Amino acid sequence: VFNVADIFGSCIHILEVQEDKNLTPLKVLHLGTLVDNIDVDQETGDLWVGCHPNGWKMFNYNPDVPPGSEVLQIKNIHSEKPMVFQAYADNGSVIQGSSVAAPYKGRKLLIGTIFHKALLCDLNPLQSD
Ligand SMILES: *[C@@H]1O[C@H](CO)[C@@H](O)[C@H](O)[C@H]1NC(C)=O
Repeated sequence: VFNVADIFGSCIHILEVQEDKNLTPLKVLHLGTLVDNIDVDQETGDLWVGCHPNGWKMFNYNPDVPPGSEVLQIKNIHSEKPMVFQAYADNGSVIQGSSVAAPYKGRKLLIGTIFHKALLCDLNPLQSD
């Protein structure tokens, strides 16, 4: 099964690979934020999604009004009711333009950006099981 981010549609498409290698759309998850890269945790199956809460600020970069950052964690993506948690959010004062995130050594979250910095932060135990 594939998860494909649709940055302008602000959603994730879940596609299934058939035996003949064709792709069948399974579902679309709407997130209301610009979805960039998706990392799948091999152990839990959770999706970690780097997002841009304000696309205009990201595409029209101005250091005085920087774009913010957002990371979503999605559990049970293949169930009827996937659960979406906001794992990280900030207004751009810490990091700007989060584009990718992945859990790191169990209790940490590593966030990469399209600009220059990466952030390593502690995970809230509620969101990491
Ligand atoms: C972000 O929020 C912090 C804390 O509320 C504030 O001090 C800072 O000025 C804000 N930065 C931007 C770019 O809005």
